[in-house]
Amino acid sequence: MNPNLSKLQPYPFEKLARLKQGLQPPTDKTHIALSIGEPQHPTPHFITEALIAHLHGLTNYPATKGIPELRSSISDWLANRFKLPAGAVDPDRQVLPVAGTREALFSFAQCVVDAGAKPLVLMPNPFYQIYEGAALLAGAEPYFLNTTRETGYLPDFDSVPESIWARCHLLYVCSPGNPTGAVMDETTQRRLIELARRFDFVIASDECYSELYADEANPPPGLLQTAHGMGHTDYKHCVVFHSLSKRSNAPGLRSGFVAGDAGILQKYLLYRTYHGCALSLPVQHASLAAWRDEAHVRENREVYRKKFTAVYEILRDVLDVEIPPAGFYLWPRTPIEGEFFARELFAQQNVTVLPGSYLSRNSGGVNPGCEYVRMALVAPLEECVEAAHRIKSFVQSLKGGIP
Ligand SMILES: Cc1ncc(COP(=O)(O)O)c(C=O)c1O
Repeated sequence: MNPNLSKLQPYPFEKLARLKQGLQPPTDKTHIALSIGEPQHPTPHFITEALIAHLHGLTNYPATKGIPELRSSISDWLANRFKLPAGAVDPDRQVLPVAGTREALFSFAQCVVDAGAKPLVLMPNPFYQIYEGAALLAGAEPYFLNTTRETGYLPDFDSVPESIWARCHLLYVCSPGNPTGAVMDETTQRRLIELARRFDFVIASDECYSELYADEANPPPGLLQTAHGMGHTDYKHCVVFHSLSKRSNAPGLRSGFVAGDAGILQKYLLYRTYHGCALSLPVQHASLAAWRDEAHVRENREVYRKKFTAVYEILRDVLDVEIPPAGFYLWPRTPIEGEFFARELFAQQNVTVLPGSYLSRNSGGVNPGCEYVRMALVAPLEECVEAAHRIKSFVQSLKGGIP
């Protein structure tokens, strides 16, 4: 067996199941799960219809590179969304469809890391768990960059020594972040692009929450947009990851794309051809329809805004919590250790949240997720509001004495 498999951590939801084992939540309260980041708004009808209309496409093997119409719709979407000139992203060389960003974020590390060179893969901490597993199975050592309140919930890149940058093969960044919702500004992105060029590493910019933002007039910047603004129209060292799962409420479609540096994508396409993860033609047609429509995405943002406002109004007096600029998670600081908070909240109120420490590792003597929990506001508004009331009662009961 691959010895690196033994380095993999149990997935957070396995840890959560263990935490809840044997507990008996009150039976008069229905269970509400705020733990899993799975969008639950309905998938727009026109996307499902496009899928059905192309089911006859199952008779063909799809090409790994995807159909040209899909790649063009993605290139057009990138240009519109990130204010790039038309054609600034070449659909033939700078775009590849992927079967969801999860598989892409994983397989990308297998392609770009040189395992023989004592490589490091840098990533935020807490982080989307795939980054770590991808690094380990690629034969690299993960290097964690703590994101704390003091650092604005983003990594402090200035504190990374040159000797670490020199060993970095791949840097994962996540903006807007899971779980914190923090958005990286353009200045920081510029600095990272300069570092990537100087130290010859690849930036994998996970932007899968980029379309869920609070301020309609202020969408989060993307890495390709910043590279283009610096005059790097070849996007050298930069690859972005986008998904239809959150943007279009289609996590079951398994569809997203990577875009950026043509040299890297050429090699990645070769890798993917062997890996065998082409999108079926019906999925490609449904995806194409989704990337061409923005109305459903605006509506989607509005639904999340309403949920954030309603839940925040209930929790603000009892919990240390802020509405994040983007994403669909609340990341409150808990009055007791996050794991304990999650356990007791489930036991007393039948509400499941995810302990922050399940998404983070000890690094530099601290675990930056320990005093937090993650709440995914994916359920319908009424359910989120009901959960917020129960969380409020729970926190108030703590003030009467920590259980
Ligand atoms: C930060 C982040 N990146 C990537 C993904 C993967 O999304 P998908 O594979 O559905 O595109 C997720 C899913 O929860 C995520 O939270």
